Amino acid sequence: MISLLPYNTFKISAYCNELVEIKNEIQLQKVIKESRLEENFLIIGGGSNILFTKNFDGLVLKNSLKGIFVYFEDSSQIVLKVASGEIWSDFVDYCVKNDWGGIENLSLIPGTVGAAPIQNIGAYGVEVKDTLHKIEAVKLSNGEKVIFNNSECKFAYRDSIFKNEAKNKYFITNVFFRLNKKPVLNTAYGDISKLIKEKGIKKATIADVSNIVKEIRMNKLPNPEIIGNAGSFFKNPVLAESDFKLIIQKFPDIRHFAEENCKVKISAAWLIENAGLKGFELGNAKVNDKQALVLINNGNATGKNILQLANFIIEKVKEKYGIVLNPEVNIL
Ligand code: EPU
Repeated sequence: MISLLPYNTFKISAYCNELVEIKNEIQLQKVIKESRLEENFLIIGGGSNILFTKNFDGLVLKNSLKGIFVYFEDSSQIVLKVASGEIWSDFVDYCVKNDWGGIENLSLIPGTVGAAPIQNIGAYGVEVKDTLHKIEAVKLSNGEKVIFNNSECKFAYRDSIFKNEAKNKYFITNVFFRLNKKPVLNTAYGDISKLIKEKGIKKATIADVSNIVKEIRMNKLPNPEIIGNAGSFFKNPVLAESDFKLIIQKFPDIRHFAEENCKVKISAAWLIENAGLKGFELGNAKVNDKQALVLINNGNATGKNILQLANFIIEKVKEKYGIVLNPEVNIL
């Protein structure tokens, strides 16, 4: 039995039968050839979006593929080939340092490069799909190399083909990003524009935006190195305009944002807070004081404690608003 404690940011104690670290593609091919993936398996990146509610009865593959290469470059753009086991926030810092723009708003997001497209990570008005050129993956059934271009990934809000029909069928090996040498900064998001003004920045740079995002995140979100958590636990519900109109009649100050295709995104943090649950504790699990969308491990929480709290929140929010929250975190 191997402890999964070092491999999940919720800091939950759970065990698996076996863990293999994948440091190169030859090792991956070996695992596939030995038919090891015909049993129960789990691929882990940074473990920042997983909640273990029980031991994992099977093989865990820890992705440790490393390397960043220039795939294409001209005077205006650069395409980087990035191994999927690279740490996302280190990769962002590397691009910011080189003045390659496009992912600076995604600074400090925990996890690996390979996990980023699976749930199409996003923050402060930018999603990983905006700069993703293509993905190289290995098909787990036969070891074949497969390319997914951007549209084939079927990206949506915190969603992609890898959470649906391609789930557990591929090991993402490399992600290609198209970054801009003459970047257009994305500073429209409320919190960012406010800080740019406050700091008196006249013409913001990539590094300014990255630093501001880091500042906002560090103020709002608990550092998983210190307090076990997995970032936002729930997705923000997206409603059809007709459903939204009924809800806003009852709750006129509901925090919401217009989305594409006449949809409206509701702030799940607002729903939880206004259901009176900010700071609420159940067992050793707690709703974060500063950001109600984040659930934290108060010390010795079990995965079941966190899940109980999550279910309680779902129930209370449904009772009050008739909206069902969906977890963003993978619950195992
Ligand atoms: N929004 C805007 N413009 C704004 C403010 C908010 O469009 O100026 C939208 C956003 O689309 C956002 C929603 O309204 O999704 C709510 O925004 P809020 O700032 O309250 O953030 P949040 O819902 O608490 C989301 C992400 C976070 C991300 C922040 C900042 C989800 C589930 N969570 O949180 O991601 O850091 O926005 O962009 O979408 C995570 O996924 O783990 C995570 C921390």
